Amino acid sequence: MNVIKQMSLAMLTGLLLLSCGNKEDKKKESFSYEKQAEEPQKQVEDGVANLVISGDDLMKFDKTELRVKAGDKVKLTLRHIGKLDKNVMGHNFVVLKKGVDLVAFGIKAASARDTDYIPADAAGDIIAHTKLIGGGETTSIEFEAPESGEYEFLCSFPGHYAMMRGKLIVE
Ligand code: CO
Repeated sequence: MNVIKQMSLAMLTGLLLLSCGNKEDKKKESFSYEKQAEEPQKQVEDGVANLVISGDDLMKFDKTELRVKAGDKVKLTLRHIGKLDKNVMGHNFVVLKKGVDLVAFGIKAASARDTDYIPADAAGDIIAHTKLIGGGETTSIEFEAPESGEYEFLCSFPGHYAMMRGKLIVE
């Protein structure tokens, strides 16, 4: 009897250790998944800060805040993850200079259809902008991050500035 008791106790202890070990493995796994998911936000490779922002068919950007460091070379990629044509649900990404009124710019841009809603005389208002894209398309631009501060960005397709806007924070 005593031997059997000891054996079953040993087995039980073994099982407990095993299940504890499993739990730790799972913890480690989910931790590394989380880390991977965060990385695309702020990837710096070869001195270039990679930013990615998506627009959809519901007239929304997936981010309202982007961060870079002053003087960084920035590669910004805009993805349109929707399906609608650019004439219906076009998206671009426009970063405005400090002091430029976003609403006033949005209204002015709406009438610049021939130049994809980037007014011909807007060079003084804009730090950088992508081209206009439709569903399924992707485009990238590179620019140098300006001096530290907060800069507003928007999609200048008519009416989109009301929903598709955010801040580029330069640290
Ligand atoms: Co848009």
